[in-house]
Amino acid sequence: MNKPLADAASLQKPFKQHVIDPETCIRCYTCEEACPIDAITHDDNNVVVDPTGCDYCMSCIAPCPTGAIDNWRVVMEPYSLDDQFGWDELPEQEDIGPGDTGSSAVEALDEEMERLLNEAHAGAGGKSKPPASASKPSVNLFTLGKPATATVQGNYRLTSETADSDVRHIILDLGDTSFPVLEGQSIGILPPGEDAAGKPFLPRLYSISSPRDGERPQTNNLSLTVKREPMGVCSNYVCDLKKGDRIQVTGPFGATFLMPNDPQANVIMICTGTGSAPFRAFTMRRQRTMPDADGRMILFFGARTPDALPYFGPLKKVPDRVLEKELCFSRATDSDKEYVQDRMRRERARVLTLLKSERTHIFVCGLKGMEEGVDGALAEIAREGAFDWPTLRTQMREEGRYHVETY
Ligand code: A2P
Repeated sequence: MNKPLADAASLQKPFKQHVIDPETCIRCYTCEEACPIDAITHDDNNVVVDPTGCDYCMSCIAPCPTGAIDNWRVVMEPYSLDDQFGWDELPEQEDIGPGDTGSSAVEALDEEMERLLNEAHAGAGGKSKPPASASKPSVNLFTLGKPATATVQGNYRLTSETADSDVRHIILDLGDTSFPVLEGQSIGILPPGEDAAGKPFLPRLYSISSPRDGERPQTNNLSLTVKREPMGVCSNYVCDLKKGDRIQVTGPFGATFLMPNDPQANVIMICTGTGSAPFRAFTMRRQRTMPDADGRMILFFGARTPDALPYFGPLKKVPDRVLEKELCFSRATDSDKEYVQDRMRRERARVLTLLKSERTHIFVCGLKGMEEGVDGALAEIAREGAFDWPTLRTQMREEGRYHVETY
């Protein structure tokens, strides 16, 4: 482990340093894009904060999907950029003496930081922990500088030709490469070419939609669920891939949005569109390894129309005993507009029964806009059971039972 270096002698001592947890960071670079003063940067390995640049504005906190950005160390000398580029994990908080940590400069900063952090975490997002029973994930095995090569095994359109969204099921064969993944993790795809400034395109992150042992048991492949975005460099590259094409991938990433292994865990999954990817993986894992599990799985899944809902056909075939399916549509011709949060309200009794159980996990994945509506529905439902939702949500998050990944 690197020791802090004296490369910013002018900084106040002790110094409260903003750091990023390389284990939970999924290398989506949203923090780098959100930083108004370019104090966040990356190399082939890690995304890091420049101690001489960060002014604690907290603009980067809310956009981070994993909470990896929300880490701090009180140090006498800040960790340099090079130290941080070399990290595989965060260094422990050093014992720098009670007199020092309690200095008025750090205390004053703490108060202001707490206020800003509370503002940033006002939504449902925030720091999360993995489920207690989740397997230990491998992260960042393949980096920008040392990506893995995968071969395209299949590229199938999931939405009908008439639907206005083109969502694809992409299967990637890893060949002889050991690329261990868990349900809920993501990989990066490196599109070829450069941006307008002549810099290589950054990888784009996609959730894995297959279980850890592959599309079919014991196959060294994985699948992705990718929506073609107008003008999207990487999504168009991926959606146009042909069988046999070879591509560069990074990852795996993600250490908290993971499937609980406990067969008694109840799993409430809430998603829109391609946010269904991890839940396909969760469902296949349960069905494959514990089809008679006591824990219930409920999927609230919103799309515009049935033919725009990825995996509509296969999903309907999953037995209700394994997966209770609540599919709802916002633009179907034969039903009223319905969002996932509307369906959750309609099914409030079932949701409340599960909220009361300490074995229940909630996972939300998909459009950022959905987060507020889902949070509101959960608050209403919790209130009917005499729960204070913000308190319950915090408790669930601290117990690794509440997970949000929105974009
Ligand atoms: P709509 O676009 O009709 O308002 P897609 O990924 O194809 O855009 O689909 C996402 C689904 O999520 C659509 O049915 C979309 O409805 C719906 N949606 C849009 N905004 C929200 C929101 N704030 N809360 C929940 N669902 C939403």
